Amino acid sequence: MDIAAEIERLKLERKAVILAHNYCPAEVQEVADFTGDSLELARRATQVEADVIVFCGVLFMAETAKILNPSRKVIIPDVTAGCPMADMINAQQLRELKAANPGAKAVCYVNSTAEVKAECDICVTSGNAEKVMSTFSPDERIIFVPDRNLGGHISARLAREYILWPGFCPTHEAIKAESVKAARAAHPGAPVLVHPECPLAVREAADAALSTGGMCAYARESAAQEMIIATENGILYRLQKENPGKKFHTLAEPILCPDMKKNTLTSLYEALRDMRYEVEVPEEISKKAARAIEAMLAVS
Ligand code: 13P
Ligand code: SF4
Repeated sequence: MDIAAEIERLKLERKAVILAHNYCPAEVQEVADFTGDSLELARRATQVEADVIVFCGVLFMAETAKILNPSRKVIIPDVTAGCPMADMINAQQLRELKAANPGAKAVCYVNSTAEVKAECDICVTSGNAEKVMSTFSPDERIIFVPDRNLGGHISARLAREYILWPGFCPTHEAIKAESVKAARAAHPGAPVLVHPECPLAVREAADAALSTGGMCAYARESAAQEMIIATENGILYRLQKENPGKKFHTLAEPILCPDMKKNTLTSLYEALRDMRYEVEVPEEISKKAARAIEAMLAVS
């Protein structure tokens, strides 16, 4: 069976659109209608006209698409594709943090569950965090969950203190500054791009900390012909495809998100064939979470 052709046929039959995150395996990006970062995917989800959204990414991303499109069917190829960082704080823990900090505004990284978003005033992605966070006035106290690294990055950029939750991405937390320095020594002159989910020492060893969409824009616009990329390796496919004349180097150790890799051609095909796994968000939570997501989209 030509699985890519079958996916195309089923997609038309089901009136479906396939959205994929930049970290998905190359063959999944190849059959997707749109590939992007969390912000681009959330924006795209607001423009969908298809009956069904097949979301190749992790659960919080598919939930965001469902919250923005409550009347459409949203399916995810592997129901176990979660984001460990998103699961590092739950709604009860956030309510307790808010109670301990009365009057503070609550901001969540989009890498959070729908029930956590429902407790927040606004959310951010790595692509718009600086812009969104700069809308707060200097006297406002701000809780930022769950990523201590993105929170720390924005805190340094804007010279503001935040009440940070100690969450992190296991994939990016494992990246070592020594590895970045070794890659720089091996490719002198090549700018180093890292994701803001990386620890401080890695961000300090880089030229820029960018969202995956930000890295694609940088690669497109920069005069540099070679770059060092320190984020999940799935992005290399898109970077190379969009910039065939440029060279992209990774670190010596592979950087992989096991959950993103659950989006395979087979799981995508089976999802379309069996119309599974449907993503549902309880109405009450969805309505509240939509306010935080829409507030973010209005700013950025
Ligand atoms: P981006 O929004 O930069 O694509 O990041 C999503 C993510 O999960 C990074 O680990
Ligand atoms: Fe979550 Fe990290 Fe995977 Fe992104 S790379 S989905 S933050 S575990």
